[in-house]
Amino acid sequence: MSPSSAFQGVSACVFDAYGTLFEVDSVARGAQAALGERWRALSDLWRTKQLQYTWLRGLAGHHADFWQVTGEALDYAMATLGIGDEGLHQRLMDLYLGISAYPEVPATLARLKAKGLKLAILSNGTPSMLAAATANAGIGAYFDAVLSVEEVGVYKPHPKVYGLACDRLGVPARAICFLSSNSWDAWSAKAFGLTTLWCNRFGQPPERIPMPPDGEIRDLSSLPDLLGI
Ligand code: LAC
Repeated sequence: MSPSSAFQGVSACVFDAYGTLFEVDSVARGAQAALGERWRALSDLWRTKQLQYTWLRGLAGHHADFWQVTGEALDYAMATLGIGDEGLHQRLMDLYLGISAYPEVPATLARLKAKGLKLAILSNGTPSMLAAATANAGIGAYFDAVLSVEEVGVYKPHPKVYGLACDRLGVPARAICFLSSNSWDAWSAKAFGLTTLWCNRFGQPPERIPMPPDGEIRDLSSLPDLLGI
C-alpha cells in the first residue's frame, strides 16, 4: 500500500504515552473495588488536574517532575470527592506504574519495528514511570528511545520537548510521525513541525488552536497501512 502523501518519507514513529499507548482510565478502574462508581469521576478529575498542573508549572517556570504532579493532582481529586484515604492514595499511585496498554499497541509496534521504522516514546512521564509502564506492558524492547521531558525540564507543549525527539533520534522533524490521542499535544507537535497524526480515541471535535495535524485515526491499528507498510 502506498502512504498518504503527508507521510511519505517518514522514518520514525514517536508516541505520546499516557492516553495514546496507555489507557489512563485503567488506573482508577483498578481500584474500583474500593471506589465503586466514583472511579470514573476520580479518573476524569485526576487526569484533568494532572494536565492543568503541567501547563501551570510550565507557564510559571516552576517545574516538578510528573510523579510529583501526578500525586498532587490525585490529592486534589480525592479531596474534591471527599475521599480521605492515605492507603488508597498510595495504591492508586502504585497502579499508575502498572497502567495498561491499549489492546492494539503490542501488535502495531511489532509490525512497525519489523519494517525498520525507528520507534520512540516522547512523554511528560519520568524515566522511571515510563520504564515501569513499558515493562509492565511488555513493549519496552520495541523502542529505540524512551524520551522524557525531564531531559529539558519543561512540559509539553513547550517546543523544546518536540525538539528533543529530532535531536535524540537524529531525524528531521518532517520525517517523524508523532502520534498522540491528546489533541492539544497533536496540535502542538504539528505547530512545532513534526508530521503528526491525531489518534482520536474518544471521537472528540478538533481543537481551535494552531495547527491541525496531518491526519486522524481512531486507534493505532491503522497506522501501518496509513504509512504504507
Ligand atoms: C504524556 C501525556 C501528555 O504522556 O499524556 O506526555
